[in-house]
Amino acid sequence: MRLSPRITALKDQVDEALIQCFESVSSPLAGPMKYPVEAGGKRIRPLLLLLVCRALGGNVKEAMIPALALELLHTFTLVHDDIMDRDELRRGRPTVHARWDEPTAILAGDGLVTLAYQVFLETRHREIVTLMRLFTRALMDVCEGQAMDMEFENRETVSMDEYRMMIARKTGRLLETACEMGAVVADAEPAMREACRSLGSDLGLAFQVQDDMLDVTADSNVSGKPMGSDVFAKKKTFLFVAAMEAPHSIRDPFVRLWRQARTPEDIRRLHDILAGGGIIRQGRDLIRSCIGNARQALSALPESESAHDLASLVDAMEKREF
Ligand code: IPE
Ligand code: IPE
Ligand code: MG
Ligand code: MG
Ligand code: MG
Repeated sequence: MRLSPRITALKDQVDEALIQCFESVSSPLAGPMKYPVEAGGKRIRPLLLLLVCRALGGNVKEAMIPALALELLHTFTLVHDDIMDRDELRRGRPTVHARWDEPTAILAGDGLVTLAYQVFLETRHREIVTLMRLFTRALMDVCEGQAMDMEFENRETVSMDEYRMMIARKTGRLLETACEMGAVVADAEPAMREACRSLGSDLGLAFQVQDDMLDVTADSNVSGKPMGSDVFAKKKTFLFVAAMEAPHSIRDPFVRLWRQARTPEDIRRLHDILAGGGIIRQGRDLIRSCIGNARQALSALPESESAHDLASLVDAMEKREF
């Protein structure tokens, strides 16, 4: 993802501060907890929180603690997600359970949630309870979304509405919470807080649809994740749901290949069927429309250098290739 120099500088601050969060962790779990954080990541959620806060005149120093807590929480979801999805590559490295083992990865995930709360409790803001409520609700929603994702693996069909409900929880909620918490730290009025919340939820939808598309479009050297993993795990991704709603001439060859796909070559052929049938374009259209809604929400923010940065982060998210 191509970021502007100002956003890159902010991301560097986040990266450095994240590592400092581990100074108090000294158990044998420290290694497996720190490992996925050190592997890097786009840091979208903390960047959104910090940029929204700054765009609304808030203090970035005050926002840093909840921003770090949110990234630690996100990292926890990834560690457990990789166990559930049986994925062995993340951020270009073996996943925690592949590098160590499942019990260690479960505990490292638990440790990361706990550390996220410990870090969060250092927030010095009079709205700490409001912030904590948003944070905790987001965690519960991610768990629910992930439970839906797992349940869908065993279903023959999933409607587009069900799919959207699932991704709004498993992915949308953390981006939504990032933006809303940024507004709360900046003491924004309720209408502005609402605009920020919808900015995050629109971005969240676009983000997961894009993630689903990258499963068949992105090389794992670029994405740092295994290509075709969703297909092999029978995930009900945007591509699956949209292909199942397509005419028989697209749906039938798709389903035949999707059921028996085993190799990278199968994934390439599946991609060609989806591209030829207009499903990839349909995904891009949906992403563009969600990003359009996000830009609409963004227009409620006052003109400023930081609002401009936020708009450029949204542009980068629209074009991302990993
Ligand atoms: C991956 O999130 C999980 C999803 C919600 C799709 P990111 O794409 O933000 O992963 P990192 O943090 O950059 O590795
Ligand atoms: C992401 O869903 C949801 C969470 C991690 C909560 P995915 O399972 O699609 O994420 P990736 O593709 O493994 O990053
Ligand atoms: Mg996964
Ligand atoms: Mg998953
Ligand atoms: Mg995915």
